[in-house]
Amino acid sequence: MEQISQTFNKPKVELHVHLDATIKPETILHFAKKKQMELPGGESAESLMEKVVCKSPGSLTEFLSKFNIYMPAVAGDREAVKRIAYEFVEMKAKEGVIYAEVRYNPHLFANFNVDPIPWGQKEGDLSPEEVVNLVNEGLKEGERDFNIKVKSILCCLRHIPSWSLEVVELCKKYKNDTVVAIDLAGDESLNNKAVLEHLIAYEEAVRCGVHRTVHAGEAGPASVVEEAVDVLKAERIGHGYHTLQDPKLYKRLLEMDMHFEMCPWSSYITGACDTDFTNHPLVQLKADEANFSLNTDGPLPFGTTLEKDYSIARNHMGFSNEDFMRVNINAARSCFLPDAEKQELLNQLYSAYGMAAI
Ligand code: NI
Repeated sequence: MEQISQTFNKPKVELHVHLDATIKPETILHFAKKKQMELPGGESAESLMEKVVCKSPGSLTEFLSKFNIYMPAVAGDREAVKRIAYEFVEMKAKEGVIYAEVRYNPHLFANFNVDPIPWGQKEGDLSPEEVVNLVNEGLKEGERDFNIKVKSILCCLRHIPSWSLEVVELCKKYKNDTVVAIDLAGDESLNNKAVLEHLIAYEEAVRCGVHRTVHAGEAGPASVVEEAVDVLKAERIGHGYHTLQDPKLYKRLLEMDMHFEMCPWSSYITGACDTDFTNHPLVQLKADEANFSLNTDGPLPFGTTLEKDYSIARNHMGFSNEDFMRVNINAARSCFLPDAEKQELLNQLYSAYGMAAI
């Protein structure tokens, strides 16, 4: 398979990427046509991308508004859900990723047994649970055809707490079948204190051995990160840039070896960080030899691939090949695979990097 040219031309691990933000424009157009739905920009992939891609630093809220444009075309369609999952694996394989954890909220692809029905759809017959099954099928077929490994993380949404208990139940039910963890995503400004449903979902995840990550300290302050770690028992932090505003918390998380899922280009577009990359929190994390990974977050609305994040790290933050190897080994040892599979992944990296196994 043809691979795209790369700043770091060795096997990589990606832990923070959203399935509903990793869709080919051609696939969106195909299913819009099937639904006889008109999309802004008409029928060409280029003009659709014009509308969907965020071009300059804005806000997380603006970024989230992009989903309103294209999700109605694919939500509620079985064939679309499975194909999106399958094509995700293909895209990642082309980027040289050998293991990815892809996240999504199953309700946002559904139109049955979901309240409220998202994207203004009419009620149909695709439930959140069937969405999980379809994504699993697509990912597994992709794994077979593209020879990489992919697991999934199911997201709760901060602004729709009524879905969270069902999300954790799906995590439990499919724990040995592709799903490895629970996440909490969405606009952090909506609630600084975890609401009851999210809290119960995360307590249940802890009780049942479901791994946990939380979007925190992206647009929100360090206190959201603290809550994610201390209250929700997060094992990894999505973004976490603003952790650095609380030096005591930052020091504690460094001592805990907390993993930060860093997304440099995403943080530039959403306005989460200073637009000067040399002032990015990643520079500090690298200097402190913190445990972090490099991730795309949302390739479609950010108009990007993993290559951009690596080239930013190389060109503006002084990352060397050795740094990139360390980043990916940290990602592998912080991934949510069972221990034996994690060790296998680490061994694959050690061998590809010409390092002795540790
Ligand atoms: Ni994210």
